[in-house]
Amino acid sequence: MSETLESVAVKIEVNGDPRTITVEPRTTLLDALREQLALTGTKKGCDRGECGACTVHVDGRRILSCMTLAAMQAGKRITTIEGLERDGKLHPLQAAFIEHDGFQCGFCTSGQIMSAVAMLAEAKAGWPSAATADVRRPFTVADLTAPRSASA
Ligand code: FES
Repeated sequence: MSETLESVAVKIEVNGDPRTITVEPRTTLLDALREQLALTGTKKGCDRGECGACTVHVDGRRILSCMTLAAMQAGKRITTIEGLERDGKLHPLQAAFIEHDGFQCGFCTSGQIMSAVAMLAEAKAGWPSAATADVRRPFTVADLTAPRSASA
């Protein structure tokens, strides 16, 4: 027998627009985005924090939306893949994925792009990452650039 939990109203900003969603406390941010706000660019892959297909930004930081509750996001600024474009222009990473045919099957592409956009911001801020050789040294965007060949 399943029990229905009392719903709660949650005010959030999604892709620049103030929104109020009404969710059961156990509703994930992923399900709220997809089912209540029809933002289906955010994908449900594993639904358990392993694949990254559901990556969105919360207050500018990447987060797995399947691993957080919508009710925890009150007052937060959420950005989904639909919110990356500005004035009808794709984000440069979205454009680069198209230009270089970086989709594979495409299902997790939005999560990859959202994660990459946040990763570049983290590198600009000097945050270490899993790829940082020495975490005592600030990580920079230059660390992400492939070394140039001497013969090129
Ligand atoms: Fe796979 Fe969230 S759906 S990490």
